[in-house]
Amino acid sequence: MFMTIRELLEKQYLEKDDIKQLLATSGEEMQMLFHKAQEVKFSALDNFVHLRGLIEYSNKCRKSCLYCGVRSNNTNIERYTLTDDEVVECAKLSHKLGYGSVAIQSGERSDKAFTDKITTLIKRIKEIDGGSLGITLSLGEQSDEVYREWFEAGAHRYLLRIESSNEDLYYKIHPHDERHDFHKRLACIDSLLSIGYQTGTGVMVGLPFQTIDILADDLIFFRQKDVAMVGMGPFIPHPDTPLYKYADQIPPVQERMDMTLKMIATLRLMMPEINMVAATANQTIDPMGREKAIMAGANVIMPNLTPNEYREDYLIYPDKACVSDKPEECFSCLDIRMKAIGHKILYNAWGDSVAFTKKKAKSER
Ligand code: 5AD
Ligand code: FES
Repeated sequence: MFMTIRELLEKQYLEKDDIKQLLATSGEEMQMLFHKAQEVKFSALDNFVHLRGLIEYSNKCRKSCLYCGVRSNNTNIERYTLTDDEVVECAKLSHKLGYGSVAIQSGERSDKAFTDKITTLIKRIKEIDGGSLGITLSLGEQSDEVYREWFEAGAHRYLLRIESSNEDLYYKIHPHDERHDFHKRLACIDSLLSIGYQTGTGVMVGLPFQTIDILADDLIFFRQKDVAMVGMGPFIPHPDTPLYKYADQIPPVQERMDMTLKMIATLRLMMPEINMVAATANQTIDPMGREKAIMAGANVIMPNLTPNEYREDYLIYPDKACVSDKPEECFSCLDIRMKAIGHKILYNAWGDSVAFTKKKAKSER
């Protein structure tokens, strides 16, 4: 049954057809969706924005995702790994700037030297000011044991995007082999949830072969898994990757941006209390992209703290925003930008997912 946008925006539970209708809005109706998502966010989470200082630990990667600039087959970049001291310095800077949390992201490796190293780094970061920094990891697929080891060392949030919840599309954007296995990825997300991480997942928006039907299923997947955090950003074709050949067949930049914002806004209606990041990819295709994502319902920003000399080699996609900005510049820039759109950065706090915290309290009752 067709409903007016006003009726849809008041519905308590969005069915798949409702979601598809919201994702198909444009013009004034799309603005009404953003406005409603903002209202829902303010009543659930206030106007707070949480920060995580992003540390891009290493671009060495054993995988070859067909969209990603750090894929192992790309020989046009220099491979680096930060030293332990560099990581700890980044974390100290995050603490000094009042960000409250760090996020460690890396190309995927699963050898023991790597996983042990991460454990050591988590412990060292936990030593800063009596464990005052929250730690998010984004280190790909690992065994249950490794996930548990890192959790016990002090990490409490983990991001692992599903990239697409549609198995066919998943294999159009990844090689189909034992290193890129859709079911393994699902199993990893389940493992993270059961270990007790605040678990985040997400997708890219505007991929070749992606449809509104698939995008609606992505949102339903997040709801079914009851995740604590979601990250969604526009797909940006990278010239040194196989998917670049579809660059002229995907929706134009403006459409990818709008669809990303509609995904964020619709999910905010479906999951009012989760954390949603305004991905850097938004800002890469639109100078106001991060602000737009915040105004469509996102509530987290991950300012980059990676030492500038390495950033050119962590270009997952081309023309990444802020590559040449110094951390201190980002700091004041962000504060001003957020105030300008009626938001308030919450400093010196972990900024946990309210959805997760409430669920945990309920299960312990
Ligand atoms: N465009 C946009 N996002 C990308 N990512 C990887 N490559 C691209 C790209 N070309 C995203 C993936 C990954 C996250 C770290 O970056 O979703 O999970
Ligand atoms: Fe490194 Fe996808 S290319 S995890």
